[in-house]
Amino acid sequence: MSESTYSIMDSIKHLPKNIKESFVRREAGTPEQEQAANVFGNVFLHLHPVRVHVNALRPGYTLGLGLISFYLFLILVLSGILVMFYYTPSTELAYQNMKDLEYVVSFGVVLRNVHRWSAHAMVALAFLHMCRVFYTGAYKAPREFNWVIGVCLLIVTLFLSFTGYLLPWDQLAFWAVTVGSNIASYMPWIGDKVRFLMLGGNEVGQMALLRFYVLHVAVLPLIAAVLVGVHFWRIRKDGGLSRPPSQLED
Ligand code: HEM
Repeated sequence: MSESTYSIMDSIKHLPKNIKESFVRREAGTPEQEQAANVFGNVFLHLHPVRVHVNALRPGYTLGLGLISFYLFLILVLSGILVMFYYTPSTELAYQNMKDLEYVVSFGVVLRNVHRWSAHAMVALAFLHMCRVFYTGAYKAPREFNWVIGVCLLIVTLFLSFTGYLLPWDQLAFWAVTVGSNIASYMPWIGDKVRFLMLGGNEVGQMALLRFYVLHVAVLPLIAAVLVGVHFWRIRKDGGLSRPPSQLED
């Protein structure tokens, strides 16, 4: 048998084993090694550490407030994309679009309210999460950097809420943003310039609506997603969640 015939036959013989090994790329080890390898080898599970301290699993410690804020963010992205199918950032059309979404589109009123209530809830939950972090002293070393990332996340969440508020272009939205941008103009020295930059002009009109729309659907969600990524990465790097001093040596 020639060398090349042999190797082709050989590959055919080993095909099932090779296919299996291309999926499962390791030998079976002890159950603990197996568990660890499963976590390392899977990109989704890889986000979790192989071992966590038992304190991190106590629901009463975190109250799940950070995770709930994160899930709300995901709901907002998803429902926001769906709302975008029905919305035009134009002073002529925006209000009518929102009314159509409520009264014409099937389940549109549900979609709108899911987006609206999740936004209110995310502001409240991110704030409560910050209170929990403060209460458990989790802002102290080595987690100061993650606290700062958290503050940035809260500010971005508030800006997301503020920019979204203008989009329905109803009386509430118009006057809320008029008042909000007037407050910004009271900043010493740069106030008027900041207001002009915010509104793209001197009054709340088409340019302001477009600016708020772009910030709301693209710029701020992207910043939030990056910050959430850094926030979660820091939790891993800081040795998992904080715990009471009495449990630090465990
Ligand atoms: C969009 C907003 C936010 C999201 C999605 C978020 C998400 C999370 C998650 C999932 C955790 C893991 C523990 C838990 O579930 O409580 C966590 C921990 C933490 N977060 Fe946030 N967070 C946000 C805002 C904030 C804010 C506003 C602060 C503080 C100003 C903050 C500071 C921290 C710190 C220091 C930890 C570590 C806590 C510990 O080790 O006990 N986060 N965050």
